[in-house]
Amino acid sequence: MDSFSATRERSDRLGADIAENPGRYRVLTGERPTGQLHLGHYFGTISERVRLHDLGVETFVILADYQVITDRDGLGPVRDNVFHAVLDYVAAGIDPSLATIFTHSAVPALNQLMLPFLSLVTEAELHRNPTVKAEHAAAGRALSGLLLTYPVHQAADILFCKGNLVPVGKDNLPHVELTRVIARRFNERYGQVFPEPEALLTPAPEVPGLDGRKMSKSYGNAITLAMTSDETAALIRRAPTDSERRISFDPELRPGVSALLTTAALCTGVDEKVLADRIGDSGAGALKNLATAAVNDFFADHRRRRAELARDPDFAHTVLREGNRRANEIADRTLDEVRSAMGTVY
Ligand code: TRP
Repeated sequence: MDSFSATRERSDRLGADIAENPGRYRVLTGERPTGQLHLGHYFGTISERVRLHDLGVETFVILADYQVITDRDGLGPVRDNVFHAVLDYVAAGIDPSLATIFTHSAVPALNQLMLPFLSLVTEAELHRNPTVKAEHAAAGRALSGLLLTYPVHQAADILFCKGNLVPVGKDNLPHVELTRVIARRFNERYGQVFPEPEALLTPAPEVPGLDGRKMSKSYGNAITLAMTSDETAALIRRAPTDSERRISFDPELRPGVSALLTTAALCTGVDEKVLADRIGDSGAGALKNLATAAVNDFFADHRRRRAELARDPDFAHTVLREGNRRANEIADRTLDEVRSAMGTVY
């Protein structure tokens, strides 16, 4: 059995235990605030987060702002991106009075864990990380020290609050593996402080952008959660399709048509091929109408809640201030334990 199917199997068993014993788990998850959250985030990770949160699992969500600059020169409109993400999390069902939503840059003690953690890994181990390699290749620029070491930083994200459950897509699995290695080595060297967190592989369907490529704000092919119905309709109207009237699901040969079918399938719960047969010979216009209605219906409640929350200009800020306060309290406590274990209490 390859290591991916082993992880998948462990993940399935874990899923069953979480449903029975939600109180045993603390989830730490999050993302880089590089842009507005879109359908890919929603179906890929946010819906899974909400599911665990609803089961009663204690939830920490990090907006990894330092991770934004692993592969670029500037942070961009990071503050807006962070505030928008907070609105989306809460609109999606994360209750900020139960969950801790916070940012890297506001939690100094979390960042300090990076120093002892870096001493526990070798340069060769860092260079072997397949996700770092892929991201380096995609960035098309020199490997920054932060890109090379960000999986260690991510270990600090997870371990500062002793998170023991990390719902991730496939591409973040190597980071959870490294986090386990770091926890184990720290405990061996200095005494038991950290749990070895488990990865929970999210069933995350790969959500294509409207042109069939990966959904990404920089490609202009992403439907964001914050869009209005009209903006959604306009974006879908401009999506590239082809002139064949008969609609069929074929991601290789018909990426645009198939991306619209997948988008509609995720929002309606009806299989792509079934939707294609329903549209039959009615062409791309009918497909676009169906996809637009599917997205707008599915996200109507989310967008209504989001707009209501956004009416209070201080809402996101207040959530974050409280989240950062809680995260700091926990990070300070953990750093104290680390210092005691290492004998650096003066
Ligand atoms: N690397 C994650 C991403 O690409 C974001 C992230 C940062 C994260 N820190 C984390 C995810 C800790 C899980 C746990 O979206």
